[in-house]
Amino acid sequence: MRIPEAVDRILLDEETIAARVRELATQISADYADPAGLVLVGVLKGAFVFLADLTRHLTVPNFVDFIALSSYNRGTTTPGAVRLIMDTRVNLTSRPVLIVEDILDTGYTLDYLLRTFRARGPSSLRTCVLLSKPERRQVKVPVDYLGFEIPDVWVVGYGLDYADRFRTLPYIGALKPEVYE
Ligand code: IMP
Ligand code: MG
Repeated sequence: MRIPEAVDRILLDEETIAARVRELATQISADYADPAGLVLVGVLKGAFVFLADLTRHLTVPNFVDFIALSSYNRGTTTPGAVRLIMDTRVNLTSRPVLIVEDILDTGYTLDYLLRTFRARGPSSLRTCVLLSKPERRQVKVPVDYLGFEIPDVWVVGYGLDYADRFRTLPYIGALKPEVYE
């Protein structure tokens, strides 16, 4: 298996991720019955791999849409400063909406999205997050579907990047601290 020099160790391997994504899809499919279809809103770019796998395991009607937010520079970002740079194409009003995010860190991003989307009057609004770093949380945000809790390390792969690198690794690996510190 390809393991770049910058990767310290594998936190979650392909099989572990795939099994959990299938479980989440089963849970989501059981919870949504709206024949009009669930709107899955993926947060670019990090969530694209997770969303692609998740949506292919859903057994309920669904639409995929995306939004993009301002990039996140750890340490340099003003806490809570989130900017929407690409909005959804579908109208979220009166639709069941599920936000799909790669990782929950401080919580500012998801909190911003929840407030923004709630104002549009969806029939329901929930969150599905692959990874969470509870130690880093600054704002409390509700997570309805969670993949894994992880320690406070910078992770890459399965869509997650470090300066746009390592997104396409099939596993989730922790970067060597000297790479990002
Ligand atoms: P929050 O607003 O602090 O919760 O940040 C969430 C965003 O920060 C995520 O959507 C990711 O883009 C990014 N992020 C936080 N931690 C990591 C990580 O360990 N690897 C890659 N991206 C991360
Ligand atoms: Mg992200």
